[in-house]
Amino acid sequence: MKKMNVLLLGSGGREHALARSFSLSPRLDKLFLAPGNAGSHSLGEPVDCSPTDFEGLAQIVEQDHIDFICVGPEQPLVEGVYDFFAERDVPVFGPSQAAAQLEGSKGFAKAFMSRHNIPTASYMEVTADSLEEGMRHLERVSGPYVLKADGLAAGKGVLILDSLDEAKSSLRNMIIEQQFGQSSARVVIEEFITGIEFSVFVLTDGKDYKILPTAKDYKRVGEGDTGLNTGGMGAVSPPPFVSEDIMHKVEHSIIQPTIKGLHQEGLIYHGVVYIGLILSEAGDFHVIEYNCRFGDPETQVVLPRITSDVLEACWSAATENLKNYKLSIDTQCASTVVVASKGYPEAYAKDLPMILPDPCHDAFIYHAGTKRHRDELVSNGGRVVSVTALGDDLKSSLTRAKEVAGQVQFDGAFYRADIGYEFI
Ligand code: AMP
Ligand code: GLY
Repeated sequence: MKKMNVLLLGSGGREHALARSFSLSPRLDKLFLAPGNAGSHSLGEPVDCSPTDFEGLAQIVEQDHIDFICVGPEQPLVEGVYDFFAERDVPVFGPSQAAAQLEGSKGFAKAFMSRHNIPTASYMEVTADSLEEGMRHLERVSGPYVLKADGLAAGKGVLILDSLDEAKSSLRNMIIEQQFGQSSARVVIEEFITGIEFSVFVLTDGKDYKILPTAKDYKRVGEGDTGLNTGGMGAVSPPPFVSEDIMHKVEHSIIQPTIKGLHQEGLIYHGVVYIGLILSEAGDFHVIEYNCRFGDPETQVVLPRITSDVLEACWSAATENLKNYKLSIDTQCASTVVVASKGYPEAYAKDLPMILPDPCHDAFIYHAGTKRHRDELVSNGGRVVSVTALGDDLKSSLTRAKEVAGQVQFDGAFYRADIGYEFI
């Protein structure tokens, strides 16, 4: 079995989780992290290069004899990192630039779903030229009004508004005042769907697919799902309401047409499709978003439940050999609780000295925004760490994750003590 040198792009908790899973693989020779964080640096060698500096990455690939690149965040994928290295014969875990539009353009994703009869909220696309039509559309439909910036907006580009006046002024702000820069030059107005959300992660090599553990994340900053949207304050896997029957329906009506649609349209996809879903009370599903990468912090609950080789899984997807990969999933439940810095998701302090609890066998601390300053561990982001625990049921994994999250110390540290509240 040939061992590999792997270059992992990204610096968050998701990438620490990938690094940890890769480090357990007998196929790993050396792991390089561009740029990683203080947690992942104990598992591999940091390289000082931005994930979107493709020329810089190419130098590292050559110098360090990299066999495989795994991409954590969406930005390099949307900017074409797959295509750049495909030309250089380096396998990349992630979709091509054309396929990454599933995340990079909400309008593209909606049109894709409509071409392939994938259930999703009805919508209208609006630009400066059709602004008046967009306003009339808002007047015709009833609230709440869902406005989505077409392009990437670091998870902030979705506005949900109760009043028509607010919706109209927000639509104008997004398009004319460029509230989210170029990303909101085009806006998707979507029908509001009521129900419970969960996410499925589908590993694909473009032909075959494997369904990874499902998860539910908690996006709002405040307890009781209040306050601003964040990248995610915690996650559980599996959400108990996602029955086998539900997954059968999701596979048939969403996963299969997605993978087949990508294939039919010649959209090269060697990675993970993250499908955000709403399950309505009537039992229907709607896709509310596609992402072209793993979720953060969902990865911190998805990967620890995979007992087969995760590096092998990603490599098999990247090299179109997923058919021969045998995926095994643990029956244990996983929960993760993010410890964030006061002020997040708005302005927050960095460089705060931190003290972490001692390592323990039943919980793991994934670093998200951390670095070393001289010999000291300091914060380096809004989401600072996420604590994952496994348990025989969600309640025990949640209890343990929260207990350890409460022991993480830095000035202004906070976490949502109600992650998983619906399930306990
Ligand atoms: P997104 O960035 O697409 O994940 O959207 C952020 C959040 O907005 C989602 O997690 C949902 O809670 C909510 N959302 C997005 N689209 C809809 C919709 N069509 N109906 C109701 N809620 C939505
Ligand atoms: N946790 C949400 C995301 O990764 O997009």
